Amino acid sequence: MSANSIPVIAIDGPSASGKGTVSQLVAEKLGFHYLDSGALYRIVALAAKQQGIAWSDADALENMATTLEIEFKAGEIYLNNKIVSEAVRSEEMSRGASEVAIHTPVRNALFDLQQSFRKAPGLVADGRDMGSVVFKDAVLKIFLTAQVEIRAERRYKQPISKNMSADYAKILQDLQERDSRDSQRRASPLIQTPDAILLDTSHRSITDAVEFVLNAYQNILKI
Ligand code: CDP
Repeated sequence: MSANSIPVIAIDGPSASGKGTVSQLVAEKLGFHYLDSGALYRIVALAAKQQGIAWSDADALENMATTLEIEFKAGEIYLNNKIVSEAVRSEEMSRGASEVAIHTPVRNALFDLQQSFRKAPGLVADGRDMGSVVFKDAVLKIFLTAQVEIRAERRYKQPISKNMSADYAKILQDLQERDSRDSQRRASPLIQTPDAILLDTSHRSITDAVEFVLNAYQNILKI
């Protein structure tokens, strides 16, 4: 099977829309591989911090990005043979990822690595530009979103459910800032392409959203 004939389901959308969870469940149901492209930008932000490189220094970031050893194994993320799964999920790295992601050279440096995830029997790719740039020929493109207040509420409930404190107003503000940085940047902005199906999860459960994507995929297979 040539790489181009391997089906890709591209799921793009803003932060906290449920994209990651939905994508992983869809991949599991179909027995497909899964690419969390956001993790790659998070890793670049973390590695830059460790090496004292500013998130604004596009050239230094590009050079660094090509030397990183990144692996996804048994549910963990490895950077240069060390587990960084927790470290990359911090609020600081969420911001860092969206800052390093504005640079075209950084995005180009990660392009081939992202494409290498396209393996039989198929791939579910989750991010901002999966359908618009990295996997333009995806068989199914989903733009998965939800109202920003609902997304903030979901983020707010995560620490609260673990008895940790959280500040709703700050979470909402961070999400709005990240949304506007991701949608307004010149390099591969977050957009709904004309061939992408809109899936608004504001009032849908994760199970519903997964069903929606699986149905859309089944419909494509019938064509
Ligand atoms: O989990 P969450 O949706 O909050 O973020 P993520 O998917 O891990 O992505 C973190 C950041 O990386 C985003 O805010 C984007 O700026 C950037 N990103 C990107 O530019 N392109 C992608 N394909 C994936 C993420």
